[in-house]
Amino acid sequence: MTAKNEEVKIEKLQKLDQETLERLIEIYMSAYEGMREYGGEGESYAKRYLRWCWGKAKDGFFVAKIGDRIVGFIVCDKDWYSKYEGKTVGAIHEFAVDKAYQGHGIGHKLMDKCLEYLKDTGRIELWVGEKNYGAMKFYEKYGFKKVGQHGIWVRMVKDTKKEIKREEK
Ligand SMILES: CC(C)(COP(=O)(O)OP(=O)(O)OC[C@H]1O[C@@H](n2cnc3c(N)ncnc32)[C@H](O)[C@@H]1OP(=O)(O)O)[C@@H](O)C(=O)NCCC(=O)NCCS
Repeated sequence: MTAKNEEVKIEKLQKLDQETLERLIEIYMSAYEGMREYGGEGESYAKRYLRWCWGKAKDGFFVAKIGDRIVGFIVCDKDWYSKYEGKTVGAIHEFAVDKAYQGHGIGHKLMDKCLEYLKDTGRIELWVGEKNYGAMKFYEKYGFKKVGQHGIWVRMVKDTKKEIKREEK
C-alpha cells in the first residue's frame, strides 16, 4: 500500500498510549532499516527514546495519519538548550516515516508543520548521521546547513525568519 492516492493528515499526538508507542517503534525501526547506527538500535532503545521525546516535547510531537493509521512522525522542541549554540534554540529530535510510505511527500508535510511550529525560535538545530545522505539532502532543501560534526553525527542548523509584523498606526 502507498500513500499516493490517500489523504494524509498531520496532527498533534494527543497521548502516548501503549498501542501508539508500539506503532511509533515499528515506524522508527522500519525507517532506519539499513542504518542501524543512526536509529533503530533496538526496540528497547526506541521505546526509551520515544518516551523521552514525548516527555520533552509533547506540544511539538506531530504524527502523519492515513485514516487512523500513523505512518510517520516528527518531534519538534521549542525549548532546547544547545550547548553548541550556548543558548536555547528550536530542535528536531526525531523525524521518521514508515519505509513503506517514504517518497510520497509525507516527510515534506511533517516538515512544513514543524517549521511552522518552530518559526519563532530563531534557530533550529538537528543532528543527522554522517552517511544519511538522503535525510541531509532533504534538510538542505529546507535551508539547513552543516555546521559541525561530533563522532558520526553531523550538526545542521537553520535560521528561522521572524514574520515581519506590520505596525499598527
Ligand atoms: C527523511 C524522511 C523522514 C523523509 O520522509 P519521506 O516521506 O520519505 O519524504 P518525502 O517523500 O516527503 O520527500 C522525499 C525527499 O526526501 C529525500 N530523501 C529522503 N531520504 C532519501 C533517500 N534515502 N534517498 C533519496 N532521497 C531521500 C529526497 O531528497 C526527496 O526529495 P524530493 O521531494 O525533492 O524528491 C524518511 O526518508 C525517513 O524516515 N528516513 C529514515 C529516518 C531518517 O533518516 N530520519 C532523519 C534523521 S535526522
